[in-house]
Amino acid sequence: MKSIFTREHRMADLVLSDYNLLPIINRFGIRLGFRDKTVEQICKERNVNSEFFLAIINTYINPDYLPDSGLINVPVNSIVDYLQQTHRYYIEYTVPEIERLLSLLLKSSNTQNLHLIEKFYLDYKVELIEHIQNEESQVFPYVLNLVNDKFRKVNYSIHSFEREHTDLDEKLSDLRNLIIKYLEPTYNDNFCNDFLLALQRFEDDLKDHARIEDKILVPVVAKIEEELNG
Ligand SMILES: [Fe+2]
Ligand SMILES: [Fe+2]
Repeated sequence: MKSIFTREHRMADLVLSDYNLLPIINRFGIRLGFRDKTVEQICKERNVNSEFFLAIINTYINPDYLPDSGLINVPVNSIVDYLQQTHRYYIEYTVPEIERLLSLLLKSSNTQNLHLIEKFYLDYKVELIEHIQNEESQVFPYVLNLVNDKFRKVNYSIHSFEREHTDLDEKLSDLRNLIIKYLEPTYNDNFCNDFLLALQRFEDDLKDHARIEDKILVPVVAKIEEELNG
């Protein structure tokens, strides 16, 4: 297991340990210019729940770190806000960036395999957007109503809303494998490498995102449902 960060660590050290943490930190509205301030100091300044912040950071670094959701005492609004920021990041940055790299790769060769890869990616994108839209239009409003207004839609539960994530992760790794194993070598190496690296980074981020939904959001909401029923 890699190191676990605590409130006393300097924020700069988090970033220096893994630059992939930067977009995650940004989702909390925290940006560079940390000086020697600790996680606790910066979270306080930015009005961020440091327990939740550290749970997210440590889970990203150590996928098995996540404690039982019941142990995390985090406002549900903060969880939903973080997940929405992550969706925005995917839609506004990750997806367009992956497409920019894919189009460079496509232009570098006209091998038939590349068009199959493009088709595979475009089908995947439809599925991804549909998944995100379902959460934005159904799951999150349901959760926020439940938490803020104690209003529970009749006959609904978080388990009936939230969909499986395995498929979304697996398709991205299928796409990577397809390229690594079967792409005819008539393309620009650098464009292909950049595309693969972007896919890998996205896959890691997406797995982390799914873990937060499955292991934090769903159990926390299920507990609230139980309490409202009781
Ligand atoms: Fe999501
Ligand atoms: Fe999801």
